Amino acid sequence: MKKIVTIIGARPQIIKAAAISRAIKNHYSTELQEIIVHTGQHYDSNMSEVFFEELNIPKPQYNLNVGSGKHGEQTAKMIKGIEEILLTYQPDAIVLYGDTNSTLSGAIAASKIHIPVVHIEAGLRSFNKKMPEEINRIMCDHSSTLLFSPTLTGYNNLLREGFQDFAEGPFSADRPKIYHCGDVMFDNSLYFSQLAREKSSAMAANNLTKNGFILGTIHRDNNTDQPERLTAIFNALLKIAEQEVILLPLHPRTHKKMQEVLSAHMLEAIQSCSNLKIINPVSFLDMVLLEDSAKMIITDSGGVQKESYFFRKPCLILRPETEWVEIVESGAAKICDADENTILNSYHEFTAHPPRDFKPIFGDGKASQFICSEILKHL
Ligand code: UD1
Ligand code: UDP
Repeated sequence: MKKIVTIIGARPQIIKAAAISRAIKNHYSTELQEIIVHTGQHYDSNMSEVFFEELNIPKPQYNLNVGSGKHGEQTAKMIKGIEEILLTYQPDAIVLYGDTNSTLSGAIAASKIHIPVVHIEAGLRSFNKKMPEEINRIMCDHSSTLLFSPTLTGYNNLLREGFQDFAEGPFSADRPKIYHCGDVMFDNSLYFSQLAREKSSAMAANNLTKNGFILGTIHRDNNTDQPERLTAIFNALLKIAEQEVILLPLHPRTHKKMQEVLSAHMLEAIQSCSNLKIINPVSFLDMVLLEDSAKMIITDSGGVQKESYFFRKPCLILRPETEWVEIVESGAAKICDADENTILNSYHEFTAHPPRDFKPIFGDGKASQFICSEILKHL
């Protein structure tokens, strides 16, 4: 039996880990034992606990309860906690997802004590090192032994950074293996969308009709922490809300920052706009149903951009760039940054000419199974 330690911490990692835990349970339960460690980076029940209940994920054996904090402080506490657990368990590998501070901490803790790192969602690049996530991704990729990229662009980024695609093992941090293997989030969307239609009451609860509303999320630090950017985004949303219902399940970071950075006048306009419905974060099944039912999606989230594509919805990206370049190149998403006019123009363009071409970019829905089989083969 091989042992892996899985590190989760932020909402999207809990969701991504569900796909691998499901593959282990269904196909590899006699060969692969998973120990789940929650760093506690996200801790509100609607940012963490709700996903364990709903997605049927095994509860973490450990919660480091690190909580929020400055980058160095938060990361340092995580490294310390993860290192102790790795020393106790001596797993065959550590499995890390995405690009959060929890990912970086796992990579540092494990690679220093020679535990092979498996990075799921490797190779993605924004080419913007002001993003904390870009630093986290690069550091994690360059200490990994198995790197699973969901897209061809990600795989090519790795080749450009000097990784080689060796056909044969053994693999190590000095001789890593890179894959283009599809996206575990696509596996999840396929798996949970039927369940969401059966179980979620998010449409009725928010008084929405199919294709009769726009879904939005905002949480990126360079949007929430900069008054001019957050103001421009809300100006655009208020204008769109003159014609459309917009549902915004808002990250707690944005809830808090809105009060700090937006003017009293803007806060009042938002509050009195009945078409702009701001709610707390929703569960994954609710989110999947809302994405599947929306007419358009406006977001700065990495995961929600992709899910827009999975559900064949036009997407306005509230960032200056994206790691998911394929969805922009295909015409299904537009980069709007936090520019009011670009957001409004893109909204009008997509309303007049919705995208129709959604080629399969993210694999066949079996990335998780493939990843487990490669871990078993090589570590
Ligand atoms: C983190 C990730 C980001 C990811 C996002 C997913 C890093 C550097 N950033 O950003 O890549 O896209 O998670 O959602 O790792 N807060 C709460 N309750 C919670 C969690 C957070 O109130 O349960 C508030 C706190 O005020 C906290 C702030 O949100 O300071 C930011 O949380 P943090 O985990 O540091 O970063 P995110 O913005 O969530
Ligand atoms: N999500 C959710 N409820 C919400 C908002 C998002 O379940 O209220 C899910 C979403 O469907 C996606 C993931 O959270 O699977 C994306 O996480 P987030 O936007 O926090 O982070 P990112 O992907 O940008 O790192």
